[in-house]
Amino acid sequence: MANIDLPIRDSFGSKLGVVAATAGSAVGLGNIWRFPYVAGENGGGAFLLIYLCFVFAIGFPVMLAEFTIGRRAQRNALGSFKKLAPGKPWYLIGLMGIVAAFMILAFYSTIAGWTLEYLVQASLNGFDGKTTDQLTRSFEIFQSGSFRPVLWQLVFMFLTAFIIYKGVKNGIEKYTKILMPLLVVLIIIICIRSLTLEGAKDGLDFLFRPDFSKIKLNVILIALGQAAFSLSIGMGTLITYGSYIQKDNNLPVTALQVSTADTVIAILAGVMIFPAVFAFNINPAEGPGLVFIVLPNIFEQMAGGYFFSILFFILLAIAALTSTVSVLEVVVAYFSEELNMSRSRATVIAAAAISIVGIFATLSFGPLSKALIFGKTIFEWFDYLSANILLPLGAILIVLFVGWYLGKKNVRDELSNRGELKGKFVSTFMVIVKFIAPIAITMAFIYGLGLIG
Ligand code: PHE
Repeated sequence: MANIDLPIRDSFGSKLGVVAATAGSAVGLGNIWRFPYVAGENGGGAFLLIYLCFVFAIGFPVMLAEFTIGRRAQRNALGSFKKLAPGKPWYLIGLMGIVAAFMILAFYSTIAGWTLEYLVQASLNGFDGKTTDQLTRSFEIFQSGSFRPVLWQLVFMFLTAFIIYKGVKNGIEKYTKILMPLLVVLIIIICIRSLTLEGAKDGLDFLFRPDFSKIKLNVILIALGQAAFSLSIGMGTLITYGSYIQKDNNLPVTALQVSTADTVIAILAGVMIFPAVFAFNINPAEGPGLVFIVLPNIFEQMAGGYFFSILFFILLAIAALTSTVSVLEVVVAYFSEELNMSRSRATVIAAAAISIVGIFATLSFGPLSKALIFGKTIFEWFDYLSANILLPLGAILIVLFVGWYLGKKNVRDELSNRGELKGKFVSTFMVIVKFIAPIAITMAFIYGLGLIG
């Protein structure tokens, strides 16, 4: 497929850069903030097991399908479908992705803002000498406020927009390459401290010993949603990033590396959190505040806790930033390529619009906490609709597109780099995207929504 009609697009400069940026998108608050609390609310070990099945049996093929579409079309999430399937309604998948991007960024920036508040608290030595109760209380007071949470959210959105404004190679790629490995090292250090706390074993039992009596049907959907959210699949982020991947990159290997890295970090986050949850007698089903309550407790008990706490919240904020950047990029690439806006204009408009929506998510913990719609706050709706509905639905349509519309010849061409790599797995991949993945996701979806069963 010739690309002579396109202006020269920005792209990732190196293979390491691709893995760093894509892993930067995947690894974020989804692993360190969302995974532990969602696992905590849904039974621990049994949840983990279902989650792992979804990541490798479904998440990985969907990731590969998105890379295939993006690199083939060299366009944004919506334009890719328009280019590959002109005049067909497949581009609606891209539109759904843009809506999902708005919702995700709106609630994600709330939590990302919290990481900045906690960075400041850590710098001021704010955890020192406090009991578990006091740390819980100060989190609740902060979270239910208005001014500070909203301010930090806006600061975070500004940082995200700044990196996007700088472009793909000099923005996204440059920062993620250095900072992601540092985050892993730090998490391992904190894991060691958490594991040496008295009572740590109960936490490991909770995380690794499946108790299937705790599994209700909707847990299947929640695990699927968490897998999709954590891998950044189902909304076109990886189509967009795929479009910046150079032609000689081995897509299956990249997708496998990224899925594995993402999963290892989620499990490490669990190992960091749950021993401490049990050691400090915190409720594992504490909800979105879990990480922000547990971690200060660990730092308080840790030699060098002051230093490590600052470093941790810096890195957590950065992990969040490399994810928010990838979500905003979906919208900005769409605005600039399809609506003919300049990149800077697209960045400002998208970031401003999302920030306004995001304020409502942030205030859901405070002044709007009683503004329930069918029992959920605005924050909870954004989270639920995006992760558990839009991403799985997007994932189904994406694999169907690759399996039934794009077809084996195009897929083989793309996955084997036009015949340069061995493409033995292509037939297996086609069976997965045509049949196994769509059927499995649809079943998990229907069961999880409680429509049958
Ligand atoms: N995967 C990111 C995380 O785990 C969140 C994300 C979801 C990013 C969807 C992009 C698209 O934090």
